[in-house]
Amino acid sequence: MEKYLINPYHKISKINKDIYGNFSEHLGRCVYEGLYVGENSKIPNVNGMRCDVVNALKEMGIPVLRWPGGCFADEYHWKDGIGDKSKRKKMVNTHWGGVVEDNSFGTHEFFELCRQLGCDAYINGNVGSGTVEEMNEWIEYMTFGGDSPMARLRAENGRKEPWKLKYFGVGNESWGCGGNMMPEYYSHLFRRYNTYVRDYDSNNKIYRVACGPNAEDYNWTDVLMKNAGNKVNGISLHYYTVPSGDWNKKGSSTDFDENEYFSTIAKAYKMDGIISRHCSVMDKYDPEKRVGLIVDEWGTWYDVEPGTNPGFLYQLSTMRDAVVAALTLNIFNKHSDRVHMANIAQTVNVLQSVALTDGEDMVLTPTYYVFKMFKDHQNNTLLGSYITTPERTLNNETAPQLIESASMDENGVIYSTVVNSCPEHSAQIDCEIAHNGVKSVKANIITGNIHDGNTFENKNTVVQKEFTDFEIKPNGFTAELPPCSIVKFVIE
Ligand code: AHR
Repeated sequence: MEKYLINPYHKISKINKDIYGNFSEHLGRCVYEGLYVGENSKIPNVNGMRCDVVNALKEMGIPVLRWPGGCFADEYHWKDGIGDKSKRKKMVNTHWGGVVEDNSFGTHEFFELCRQLGCDAYINGNVGSGTVEEMNEWIEYMTFGGDSPMARLRAENGRKEPWKLKYFGVGNESWGCGGNMMPEYYSHLFRRYNTYVRDYDSNNKIYRVACGPNAEDYNWTDVLMKNAGNKVNGISLHYYTVPSGDWNKKGSSTDFDENEYFSTIAKAYKMDGIISRHCSVMDKYDPEKRVGLIVDEWGTWYDVEPGTNPGFLYQLSTMRDAVVAALTLNIFNKHSDRVHMANIAQTVNVLQSVALTDGEDMVLTPTYYVFKMFKDHQNNTLLGSYITTPERTLNNETAPQLIESASMDENGVIYSTVVNSCPEHSAQIDCEIAHNGVKSVKANIITGNIHDGNTFENKNTVVQKEFTDFEIKPNGFTAELPPCSIVKFVIE
């Protein structure tokens, strides 16, 4: 029996709802087909946004959406994506399949999508191939409410009022596809570009995200924090789970054995240590934890589905992805003193998506149900909690079997999400809520065989169900978590 302690009197930090954010890039069928089908499509849509996906994302509780990239962001020139659609300039999407981008989805369409989703906007600017003037004018176009050239242009294009822009990224992966820069060079460039990201409206103070490190590049974090730490609100971190660790042969999304399953879980679990080390570098320069760590790209990355465009990064999803999502979200909750936002890559039809589409059809992935289950944590207070757990080591990789987090909402209700990553063994847990009586416990579960997934033919193989295999005690409960499962307990 594993001991699980939750201390409702140990209130640690606010879990920013934006930790549950998504990322959507002009990549493959994410924006076009996945989110946007155009006003004239026979697929049901409102102003071009497909209704099935929008409704599903709303129900999932999407708090914030990042756009337009990714690598695409540093090739994107926003003026190409405004005005009469028939006259918009076309470009080649060199990063992603070399397809022609017709720019029919641009700034106005993105804010319309956010309006329909009821979520905040996170826009990533172009440092790699864009100018300071271009970035400055984009900010003016989006957020200036007075009379100015860009505000007039916006009004001419049908939008009189400025939009609310919550987050703005100054470059993406500037150490790689965004310009192949060194941290010293980028941090100086950040200072320059960021100067012209003006707060035009005192009610819209833009949260500025600098391009942070790739995975374990702690030197990048150090240099950036030293040179620009006082100018940023957040720095990004990108970390993908690649089962084999080899970018040339990552592994299949559906055809994997138990060792590959474990390796995937262990690599996803590395997120915990990676965040901790970046946090300790950040603590050196920012002990008050003013600057956020923004994990704006994360998720599983497998070989593309056979027969699909290699540049479109289309992959399928199983219970393995659900476990990765749940353990990662628990890790983010636990680091919510520093992690202010995170964005899974990517919302629809690309990498670890929450939804897949095929023409008019849509299927929700196991990852979708994890986000929906975990939305109760949004804006809650993280509580001190601890679980004992067996650990497994294979080929120098280690991961715990059980990973949890617990939070409390403003009414004192406790939410605990526990992952049992073991594909073979159930886990008995004995949970004690310190110094508290327990009146009621309700629970939900997502579980299945590691290979189970939802397909267009069988959409409901992996969904969230009620869970009753627990017993309430005066100050807690005991439960048996099945192999490969994610359980949420709601404790009053
Ligand atoms: O999400 C796919 C790509 O991964 C993004 O465009 C880039 O930022 C990262 O390398």
